[in-house]
Amino acid sequence: MKKIWLAGFAVLAMGAATMALAQGDVIAARRAGLKRMGDFMTAMKPVADAHAPGTQFVGTIEEMIAFYQGLPARFPAGSGTGDTKALPTIWSDPVGFNAAAAGVVEKLQALRVAAAGGDGAAFEAAWKAVGPACGTCHRTYRAR
Ligand code: HEC
Repeated sequence: MKKIWLAGFAVLAMGAATMALAQGDVIAARRAGLKRMGDFMTAMKPVADAHAPGTQFVGTIEEMIAFYQGLPARFPAGSGTGDTKALPTIWSDPVGFNAAAAGVVEKLQALRVAAAGGDGAAFEAAWKAVGPACGTCHRTYRAR
C-alpha cells in the first residue's frame, strides 16, 4: 500500500515539474515574441521620423497584427510566476487585458493601411499612435 502511494506521489511530482517547465517555455516564447515586436517598432522609427512612406513594412505589420491577436493566449493561467514581468492583474482582469491587446491591433491595422498607402505623413502619424497603445497595457499589466 505504502509503495503504491509513493509511486503515485512520484508521478504527481513529475507532473508538477513538467508543468513548471512548460510554463517556463511559454514565458520565454512570449518574451522573445514581445522583444521581436519592440525591435520592429524600433526599425520603423527612423522611417517614421523622416516622414518616409513605410511601404516596406507592410509584411512586418501584418506579422505584428497576428502576434497581438494571439497575445492573450500567450498568458495561460499559471504563467504569472517565474522569469516574467506579467502582473496578476492579467488574470484578475482578463476583459481589460484583452481590450488592451485589441487596442494595439486596431492601431496596427491603421498603420498597415498607412504603410500600404505609401503616404509618409500618414505613416508617421499612425506609427506614433501605436506606442501609447502599447503603454496602456504595460502600465496596468506589466511590472516595471
Ligand atoms: C495586452 C497587453 C500588452 C500589449 C498590448 C503590449 N504588451 Fe508588451 N508586454 C506585456 C507584458 C505583460 C509583458 C511582460 C511579459 C513577461 O515578462 O512575461 C510585456 C513585455 C514587453 C517587452 C519585453 C520583452 C522581454 O524582453 O522580456 C517588450 C519589448 C514589449 N512588451 C513591447 C511591446 C510593444 C512594442 C507593444 C506594442 C506594439 C506591446 N509590447 C504591447 C503586455 C503587453
